[in-house]
Amino acid sequence: MSTPTDAQRMEKIVSLCKRRGFIFQSSEIYGGLNGAWDYGPLGVELKRNLKNYWWRVMVHERDDVVGMDGAILTHPAVLKASGHVEGFSDPMVDCRTCKAHLRADQLVEKKGVKQCPNCGGKDLTEARQFNLMFETHVGASAEESSIAYLRPETAQSIFVQFKNILEMSRKKLPFGIAQIGKAFRNEINPRNFTFRSREFEQMELEYFCRPEQGMDLLEYWKEERLKFYENIGIASAKLHVLNVPDAERAFYSKGTYDIEYEFPFGRQELEGVAYRTDYDLSQHQKASGKSLEYFDEETREKFVPHVVEPSAGVDRTVLAMICEAYAEDEAPNDKGQMESRVVLRLHPRMAPIKCAIFPLLKNKEPLVAKAKEVVALLRPQMTVFYDETGAIGRRYRRQDEIGTPFGVTVDFETLGERDPALRDTVTLRDRDSMQQERVAIKDLAGRLVSRVV
Ligand code: GLY
Repeated sequence: MSTPTDAQRMEKIVSLCKRRGFIFQSSEIYGGLNGAWDYGPLGVELKRNLKNYWWRVMVHERDDVVGMDGAILTHPAVLKASGHVEGFSDPMVDCRTCKAHLRADQLVEKKGVKQCPNCGGKDLTEARQFNLMFETHVGASAEESSIAYLRPETAQSIFVQFKNILEMSRKKLPFGIAQIGKAFRNEINPRNFTFRSREFEQMELEYFCRPEQGMDLLEYWKEERLKFYENIGIASAKLHVLNVPDAERAFYSKGTYDIEYEFPFGRQELEGVAYRTDYDLSQHQKASGKSLEYFDEETREKFVPHVVEPSAGVDRTVLAMICEAYAEDEAPNDKGQMESRVVLRLHPRMAPIKCAIFPLLKNKEPLVAKAKEVVALLRPQMTVFYDETGAIGRRYRRQDEIGTPFGVTVDFETLGERDPALRDTVTLRDRDSMQQERVAIKDLAGRLVSRVV
């Protein structure tokens, strides 16, 4: 259960996200579309940094993984074969008192009696299955034959393209196919800000292997994925691994770990690492009549590969990074008095803006010109932000609140007016320690690049 403090913290985070342009309610000026979110100028940078880092670690830095980018519109035969048309549903209950549609597992139980969590009503319908897929029609007719689905996971296009990619890439088992992209689920109750949305993005790897490698690779990928979260600034103490019990796993899975994060609204899943056996490829082979077997040249065996799948939520991870980074502490203002500050302690690799550059005064042309030189020097290597308005302390505060890890101030020392030895040096301020040091402009890029990429 969330304590009031956690709820307040979450409120502050949601408000910061809107105020500083990380995340907005979709279609807000028309009252909002429930379960859909738009990322603003800073949110899109944070999200891209996450996706780029995932792609770098999971694809570019490995010899055994290739990428793909599949269509969102999906042939119904794909999702019939995978079991989604029949079985991708949640049990739904309606409250006859307040008319709410509820997921059956959200009902509250008091003295053995199920109640509506919204109004406390006890007049509830029987649970019925509600399919979570969005159905649409392709082309001009709206008949049964024109049905297509918005994909509920990116994984299925990987399975369906397995043979093409195997043949063109000439990879040997074990090898993986990675994909980042949108997926859609008509959640009964979207909630917890962006955590449970109807439109969201996934980062999925399908790692194909021999059957006897499956259980070891499940362990391997769980450990790799835990390292990933630490490398984007999520403290290991806030991550938990749930070994999903037999009864709660998909029937075809031989093992699933949920990697969970302690959000202010409770411990929730960021990623599932699942050993899906040969279920998906076998289903598609059966339904399409096309061989999806692998031929092992050494053993001369032909078989349907097994697969281990680390499947992470982009939006959930962005939210976890923001929740992890949000802090309130104290910092001195321009008069040296301590004031409270909000700071996002994002990992520099993930921060939307890496370095802010400030001329001490905006009406001193040589300071402004030098600061713009620093902007031009750093911009090819990282995202920078130039700000000349307001007292310097206020400018720092604005950057602290959006997680900018470094601030560079161009002052009169930079111009060499007081001490020629300090000409062409600037102050470099660290967001977290608030320590400042003097650094030569020519050394800045070298100092910062290794910290932010
Ligand atoms: N591919 C696993 C999932 O979407 O949950």
